[in-house]
Amino acid sequence: MIFTEEMLASMKKVEAARENNIALEPRRMTAEEKDALLSQYHPDYRQDGFQTIQVGPNKGEKAPVELIAMLEGRSRTLDMDIDLNKIDYEADVLIIGAGGAGTSAAIEADEAGAKVLVVTKLRMGDANTMMAEGGIQAADKPGDSPAQHYLDVMGGGHYVNRPELVKKLVMDGPIAIQWLNNLGVEFDKAEDGTMITTHGGGTSRKRMHAAADYSGAEIMRTLRDEVLNRNIPVVDFTAAIELILDDEGKAAGAVLQNMETGEIKIARAKTVVIATGGAGRMHYQGFPTSNHYGATADGLVLAYRAGAKLLYQDTLQYHPTGVAFPKQIYGALVTEKVRSMGAKLINSEGEVFMHPLETRDVAAASIIRECSTNGKGVPTPAGKAVWLDTPMIDRIHGKGMLEKRLPAMLRMYLKFGIDMRETPILVYPTLHYQNGGIEITVDGMSGVKNLFVAGEAVGGIHGRNRLMGNSLLDVIVFGRNAGQQAGKAAKNTQIGKLSLEHVKKYQAELEKAGIKDQLPSPKLLPDYTRKF
Ligand code: FUM
Repeated sequence: MIFTEEMLASMKKVEAARENNIALEPRRMTAEEKDALLSQYHPDYRQDGFQTIQVGPNKGEKAPVELIAMLEGRSRTLDMDIDLNKIDYEADVLIIGAGGAGTSAAIEADEAGAKVLVVTKLRMGDANTMMAEGGIQAADKPGDSPAQHYLDVMGGGHYVNRPELVKKLVMDGPIAIQWLNNLGVEFDKAEDGTMITTHGGGTSRKRMHAAADYSGAEIMRTLRDEVLNRNIPVVDFTAAIELILDDEGKAAGAVLQNMETGEIKIARAKTVVIATGGAGRMHYQGFPTSNHYGATADGLVLAYRAGAKLLYQDTLQYHPTGVAFPKQIYGALVTEKVRSMGAKLINSEGEVFMHPLETRDVAAASIIRECSTNGKGVPTPAGKAVWLDTPMIDRIHGKGMLEKRLPAMLRMYLKFGIDMRETPILVYPTLHYQNGGIEITVDGMSGVKNLFVAGEAVGGIHGRNRLMGNSLLDVIVFGRNAGQQAGKAAKNTQIGKLSLEHVKKYQAELEKAGIKDQLPSPKLLPDYTRKF
């Protein structure tokens, strides 16, 4: 058995209290209690994790120190000899990023008749979409409505979400599910063919559609097949290291760099879509992450240098249940679906310390409090953690249900000798999602003309806290939208003379502000080399 004596002693208390804990209906926190909890324990409120942005459209606002190092970093293009007259790729719509949003955009731009080019610094599908587990929300069941979904999204986001973006998200939700279903996504269905839907944290209705606990992988598989079937060109292992504007300031392409050879290529396009995803690999405040290897906020940096404004760049999502033990999978995602199916969060004394389906920011802060000096966290080699009592699931729904609905999770733990049907698991928050990002209008365009943005790189849809399952929905809704709008805009666009003047101008502003010791930016990949 890999658990320590101390863990085993605590586990006995969890087992002894299980029957009572299953029956217990923990109360929900009041708004005042939530505010007090968040301000004391949520990482977004830690002053030392943030600094003030010194140049650009968000000058004077707060951002994580690690993001500021990139926003105020040195463009990789400044030390290169780049010939913008030598065009390597020509497209109507250039899409940067090939996850859920990028591929959805590519499919729709192709459908609109545009000549599309997709570039990705890793491979198509190396993206947070692929890692998403629990499901995708959409109000398509009797007793639910987009209006109800709208209220949940706004409430979860602390009512600062951009209303027009939320309206689009929820109104297009049922259409997105239908689109995915028609493309071939194998959603979980009942015997009569209706979709099985469950709750997520902060949802007032059961509207989470899933493919077991690999919903994102199933969606990504389908989107990738569709891109391949349409013969849309995808250039992989090629990062966009800078946006190119034309002499009228419109987005007109990108400087690309081959990740293996370092070779530089120029892509010219009538419109550009940024779909570069999230930022988990920035490891803000030293947190582990559930994100894929390439999640380094590149799109935010490129768009910002080109003049686009960011929104809520200071708010991150720490998924309440990252793996805390064993250390080989530290920070990996334990889907919220585990709690949707009835597993409760328990402290070292076997006590339920919160309602398992509070919104994510509240749930994460609650776990951090439990693991603080005066709390009842369980000691692990990596710090304190709390129990997620997974054996409750089969106890509530019948033997075999955990394996049926959470097969990937079960397999992940079995590899380390932990059978989550029999023993509870140890969890602690993990950096999961970038709530903020680049500001867009409802047609998906940023503050830079012809620069569209979709997916996790967008800010405003989820306010200051996203609910489970609304990210998979947003990559589809806003990915498709960006592809349609970029395809349409390309039809009426003439590209002027290509330029990187904005990069030089931005660098001059940084120097004027006295910024020194600049790191190469964007980050592109995390650096895990040991520093001795
Ligand atoms: O918990 C989860 O399965 C994560 C879902 C999400 O971030 O939407």
